[in-house]
Amino acid sequence: MDGRHVETIAVHAGERAEPGDFTATVAPIHAASSFSYRSAADQEAVFNDERPGFVYTRYGNPTVAALEATIADLEGGEAAVATGSGMAAMHLAILGEVQAGDRILASKDLYGSTFALLTNVFGVLGIRTTFVDTTDLAAVESAMAEVRPRLLVVETISNPLMRVADIPALATIVKGHRARLLVDSTFASPVMVNPLRHGAHVVVHSTTKYLSGHGDTTGGVIVTDEVRGHELRELNKLVGSLMSPFTAWLTQRGVKTLPLRFAQQARSTVTVARWLAAHPSVAQVNFPGLLDLGGAARQFNGDLRGAILSFDIRGGGAAEVHRFMDALTVCVPATTLGDVYSLVLYPAMSSHRAYTAEQRATLGIGEGLVRLSVGIEHPDDLIAHLEKALAAATAV
Ligand SMILES: Cc1ncc(COP(=O)(O)O)c(C=O)c1O
Repeated sequence: MDGRHVETIAVHAGERAEPGDFTATVAPIHAASSFSYRSAADQEAVFNDERPGFVYTRYGNPTVAALEATIADLEGGEAAVATGSGMAAMHLAILGEVQAGDRILASKDLYGSTFALLTNVFGVLGIRTTFVDTTDLAAVESAMAEVRPRLLVVETISNPLMRVADIPALATIVKGHRARLLVDSTFASPVMVNPLRHGAHVVVHSTTKYLSGHGDTTGGVIVTDEVRGHELRELNKLVGSLMSPFTAWLTQRGVKTLPLRFAQQARSTVTVARWLAAHPSVAQVNFPGLLDLGGAARQFNGDLRGAILSFDIRGGGAAEVHRFMDALTVCVPATTLGDVYSLVLYPAMSSHRAYTAEQRATLGIGEGLVRLSVGIEHPDDLIAHLEKALAAATAV
């Protein structure tokens, strides 16, 4: 012993060893809230952005930075900021774009919590949002002229009706009005579309979904240009919405298989969508892969059209949907999407409960509408399973 007491040894022994001459084959989890340097001058230089490094995890963390670099690369963006949830990413991204008195234009069938964020949070701060059908480009053009918004908010594929936004066309309209385009691309994942390459200024993902992919994390990410990325990081030092290093590590691990998972899921969805469309108990199937998307198809990286569909149980309401969900054994009835296993959700009960029944009806979200996020199971098993659940739903 060198004279130190047991208390001192217990807290310091084994800590802060200099990394040796090796490289971990995957980015390690840096579960540290702060980072120390050999000299105060070194630390000062990091604080001043004069040398790369990390000082405090709310300002930046090596594990989180590794994920941010990966997603920026996948989206073709210059910078990414990871957050504690997809909603935190939406909040931060919008906060970075608008000031009190500004106006926002947004899709009328946004994810329910984003609708509530715009209305209940930004609305009361004096930032009003006007909602428009963003698949109607003429309506967007005239709303832009009338509202003169600073920002247009859309989802690549809307939830739960799977309407596809024509991002290149929307970007052209937005440019003509000197506004900016924010795209929530959660449903598409970076595999299918890269909105920044088509003129969008900011892309948001709930990493909870496809990027992480295994149903065991909650997180979000914003991808944008270097300047806005820096501003958002500075803003987030104050807002403090962080992705934890452990979540970043799990998400990085999920991202490695994203292209494989997403391709398999999207291919199975085509099979399931065709089968559902021919089923007598199904009134309508909403899936971009069954439609001629016209000009909007040019934004897709290949022939994948997503892995989520929704369908109306013919003549169905809450009772039929509940029977359908209670009969599920392979698909998991849960409020999420994009996992390796198939997930079923009742929009009227979950994702769109922030809307009133009248608002849902106006949007075309019927009381018999069910959303299915297709997983990596064999599509034949999914079809056999759905057949049984539909029979249970329609049995009287
Ligand atoms: C399209 C879309 N955007 C954002 C979110 C919010 O993500 P999170 O639950 O990670 O906050 C969701 C969640 O379902 C979503 O579906």
